[in-house]
Amino acid sequence: MTVVQDVPDLATLQRRAAERAAARAGGADRLRGHIVCDGLVRIFTTEGVEVVALQGLDLVVDRGELLAIVGASGSGKSTVLNILSGLDTPTAGIARVAGYDLLTMSARKRLRYRRHTVGFVWQQTGRNLLPYLSARENVELPMRLSRRGRAGRRRAMELLEMVGVGYCADRRPGQMSGGEQQRCAVAVAVANDPEVLFADEPTGELDEATAAEVFAALRTINAELGVTVVVVTHDSQVASQVRRTVAIRDGRTASEVHRTARVGADGVEELVTEEYAVLDRAGRMQLPAGFVDALALRDRVKLTLEPDHVQVRSGDEGGTR
Ligand SMILES: Nc1ncnc2c1ncn2[C@@H]1O[C@H](COP(=O)(O)OP(=O)(O)OP(=O)(O)O)[C@@H](O)[C@H]1O
Ligand SMILES: [Mg+2]
Repeated sequence: MTVVQDVPDLATLQRRAAERAAARAGGADRLRGHIVCDGLVRIFTTEGVEVVALQGLDLVVDRGELLAIVGASGSGKSTVLNILSGLDTPTAGIARVAGYDLLTMSARKRLRYRRHTVGFVWQQTGRNLLPYLSARENVELPMRLSRRGRAGRRRAMELLEMVGVGYCADRRPGQMSGGEQQRCAVAVAVANDPEVLFADEPTGELDEATAAEVFAALRTINAELGVTVVVVTHDSQVASQVRRTVAIRDGRTASEVHRTARVGADGVEELVTEEYAVLDRAGRMQLPAGFVDALALRDRVKLTLEPDHVQVRSGDEGGTR
């Protein structure tokens, strides 16, 4: 049996997530910058060879946001998520989550951070759940480690219901489909009531319909619990369902797509999509591939400063080349 939750539309979910997050933060003034990366650098050294996985990545995520990160393989998506979830330490730059400084925190603080402040969902279904425990026991486990006692049992059931797999409570992972396991993994990840949930390609091993159910679970958690959610995905379907998508290229934030709900002239609410390029401190930015293709821009472009904008034209015009 598949239970697809009745998920409200995007605008309603966004509003609800913002309200819950504001209530959690104790006022809207504390909302900005729940996650802050500034000039984040991560260099891996293996056998004397250096790989620059992140080269000055900038990112700000507001409390209660649901953000998608997209990018080619090897662009640094998992590296960012591993740093933000406290599994890996950056080489340089600033990385702050919920007031924790990820560069300087002590081992003891890091442990507390990983247990209580963040939750994580991996791509590999087998990595998220213990195979010999039932779904409910898997969700109860992190709460037991933090001595929640009986209340944990009730909460485990509530969370499983919330992500639409209450009917799987007594099944072990081997008796659940990949999508059911991943939804259960979302429940496990938020068992200890974290402030932020990270998911690295949680739908990577699933077909489209099942992936949509897992994503619906993430949206529900974001909206109902006010948890800030950052999800890495290759799935363009998923990316089109969130308010903000950040594209990473070569270890830097390259562009952003924002979707906002606006009420049109006919009184009907519609989603407006706007594309943003990220300008780094040196003034570098990347034009979206669609713009470059549409005007067949290449090699050199001509820039003109206008009173309130910058014009970019093909450098071929006027035969100056
Ligand atoms: N532990 C490591 N040691 C050495 N190099 C690493 C390590 N982890 C990642 N890298 C390198 O850093 C770069 C970024 O890797 P990362 O895993 O963050 O990419 P990704 O965007 O998650 O890719 P994918 O979509 O394939 O998962 C790659 O060049 C990768 O080879
Ligand atoms: Mg990855």
